[in-house]
Amino acid sequence: MAQKIVAANWKMNKTLQESIDFSKEFAKNILNLKKTGVILCPPFISLFNINEILKNTPAKIGGQNMHFAESGAYTSEISASMLKSVNCDYVILGHSERRHDFNETNEFIKKKIDTALAKGLKPIICLGEKLEERESEKTKDVVKKQYDSAFEGISTEEVKNCIIAYEPVWAIGTGLTATPEQASEVHTYIRSLLIEQYDAETADSITIQYGGSVKPANAEELIKSADIDGFLIGGASLKVDSFTEIINIVEEVIN
Ligand code: PGA
Repeated sequence: MAQKIVAANWKMNKTLQESIDFSKEFAKNILNLKKTGVILCPPFISLFNINEILKNTPAKIGGQNMHFAESGAYTSEISASMLKSVNCDYVILGHSERRHDFNETNEFIKKKIDTALAKGLKPIICLGEKLEERESEKTKDVVKKQYDSAFEGISTEEVKNCIIAYEPVWAIGTGLTATPEQASEVHTYIRSLLIEQYDAETADSITIQYGGSVKPANAEELIKSADIDGFLIGGASLKVDSFTEIINIVEEVIN
């Protein structure tokens, strides 16, 4: 069975002081977690301090993006080694805001995935369709294309270091959540792609998160649905209370 993991994607929110305040309060809430994994992905400027505050808790930290190159003339970019140097274990790659607002293609994202794995970072690989693609029944085609590009040449050992996040673009930050049935159908489809490429045991061990307007009110029915192994959360991860509540719901459901 895949580990249930709840991740926060703060996007471009919180100053350094706000991140510190959040983490100090949050740290106390997760000391007794037994099974649920927690990852915080703040803006780059806060990673160092958040790592210091959370280092004796079960929480891990991750970057929200990175460049595929080791170093060089890439103004404003961050490398895998830089993320590792502040103790990041994870990096979000292929988020729909990067794909659609910053024109990141499957090919570009693939290069980052390969670099992350080569450097020992665990990528949280985001897949998901736009509203018009869902409406024209292209969801599975789009997700398969993104999946095929991301996992091409990834070995059985390497895939075990990947998290997949299914995030329908129309549900991100809109308040529209995919129904548990809609989400579960795509999650099961992604699992079937993993079974086809790898084997059932490996596929079952990969965490497939759902993302898109997850909040305390819908977390329970989503996490109880087939093949949903956790969440990637934007808006509701910005407040200690709502983020903690979602983590507690997941922890309770799996116990
Ligand atoms: P949301 O964002 O929870 O605010 O919809 C999710 C995400 O973009 O990862």
